[in-house]
Amino acid sequence: MLRLSCWFIRASLAYLVAGFTLGALMLTLKAVARYRGLGLLMTPHVEFLLIGWTLQLTMGVAFWILPRFEQGTSRGAVGYAWLAFVLLNAGVILAGLGPALGDARFTRLLGRAAEAGAAFTFGLHAWRRIRRASF
Ligand code: HEM
Repeated sequence: MLRLSCWFIRASLAYLVAGFTLGALMLTLKAVARYRGLGLLMTPHVEFLLIGWTLQLTMGVAFWILPRFEQGTSRGAVGYAWLAFVLLNAGVILAGLGPALGDARFTRLLGRAAEAGAAFTFGLHAWRRIRRASF
C-alpha cells in the first residue's frame, strides 16, 4: 500500500479509537454521575468520528483506488493529497480540541477553514483521476 494511504488509514484508526473512547466515557458519565457538561467531550467525539475517522478513511482508500495514469507519477499531483492530509489532521485537532484549548470560537473557525482546505486540495488531486475507463 502507498505511504500516504497508510498515513491516512492509520490516522483514521487512531481517531476511531479516540472517538469511541470519548463516546463510551460520555455514556458512562451520563449513566453513573448524571454529568451534564458533555460539551467538552462531545465536540472532539463528533469531530474525531465524522471527519477524523469517516472522511479520512475515505480519502486514504480513494487515494489508493482511483484510476491511475499510465505516464508520469502514476497517481498524478500527489503533493495536493499530502497537503490535504496535513490540513485535515490540523483541522480535526483544532476544531475538536478548540473548546478544551480555551478560545473555542477562533480555534474552531481555524479548524473548519483547514478542513475546507483539505477538501479542496484533495478535490484538486482527485479530479483528474476521475475519468471513464478506456476499454
Ligand atoms: C462512527 C461512529 C459515531 C459517530 C459518527 C457518532 C456521532 C455522534 C454525534 C454527531 C453526536 C451528537 C448528537 C447530538 O448533537 O445530539 C453523538 C453523541 C453521542 N455519542 Fe456518538 N457517534 C459515534 C459512535 C459512538 C459510540 C461508539 C458511542 C459510545 C460508546 C457514542 C456515544 C455518544 C454519546 C454518549 C453521545 C451524547 C448523546 C447525548 O447525550 O445527547 N457514539 N455522537
